[in-house]
Amino acid sequence: MTRTSDLDSKGFTAFAPATVANVAVGFDILGFALQSVGDRVTVRAQSSEQVTIEEISGLAVAKNISLDPSQNTAGVPLIQMLRDLKPGFGFSVRIEKGIPLGSGLGGSAASGVGAVVAVNALLRKEFLKEDLSPDQLIHYALEGEAIASGAKHADNVAPCLLGGLTLSRPGEHPDVVSLPCPKSVFAVVVNPSMQLNTKDARGVLKSEISLKMHSQQSARLAAFIAGCCTSDLALLKKGFEDLVVEPQRAHLIPGFFAVKQAAMDAGVLGCSISGAGPSVFALTSDQGIALNAKQAMIAAFKSAGLDAQGWISPMGSAGARIV
Ligand code: HSE
Repeated sequence: MTRTSDLDSKGFTAFAPATVANVAVGFDILGFALQSVGDRVTVRAQSSEQVTIEEISGLAVAKNISLDPSQNTAGVPLIQMLRDLKPGFGFSVRIEKGIPLGSGLGGSAASGVGAVVAVNALLRKEFLKEDLSPDQLIHYALEGEAIASGAKHADNVAPCLLGGLTLSRPGEHPDVVSLPCPKSVFAVVVNPSMQLNTKDARGVLKSEISLKMHSQQSARLAAFIAGCCTSDLALLKKGFEDLVVEPQRAHLIPGFFAVKQAAMDAGVLGCSISGAGPSVFALTSDQGIALNAKQAMIAAFKSAGLDAQGWISPMGSAGARIV
């Protein structure tokens, strides 16, 4: 039997990276992980059999994120894990936000993934004979994503957990596939000093598209994925242009077209909105172009009245891990 006096001192911290969802043409289904930027979630066992969020620190500006576990993207997955797995103890959680809130960089998914990865390590030590499977961890983390964006889509959760570039199906059974990621490609990500609520950014989208648009967008998605699988960057570039979602969301991001043009002028393969925005990302296989694009994109946001910060990262970086 587990002694709760022992449990109170034990804990695990997981780092969960920021992610770029949609990747232009894969609305709700494609995503890739970024390096360095991410959330840290520490989970300790506690004798009371419930989930307690002790503290949220870092970039989050804590007042914007609920400490009520039933309203928190890290809390909801853990409540479900407690119900299903019944370990005989509860979870005390501390979240250090490294991903700006409402940035389109998968912050809500990262807190959920960090929480389930830390809990998996804790349960593995105290309770379970083997790790929970990636599918189980994704299932739990998606419970949190649903409260953040109003829909269950694993385009942030899957790459955050697994790293690399992932393909997933929206809904209860995401059937996640890890796609090959061209090794030479860097992502430039620029985050303006504003927030966009994912639910609002989904609210502006029309629910239907024409058959012609479906066919054109499908061809681009197929070209993009084939380009990634074969490291054919010319094909990837041909598939980069999002005809469906970007045109409907661009107006939510001041200066978006100038930022995109600045990146294209610097020579990137393509540029689009990261997730639901307002961050903007571009891909290139040239580090010099990446540096120039980052500066040009930041300057373009500045001209539109927004300060911005940027990162350059290998396109398919590592997923969540215990640190
Ligand atoms: N794919 C989502 C959207 C955001 O664009 O609304 C990330 O899950």
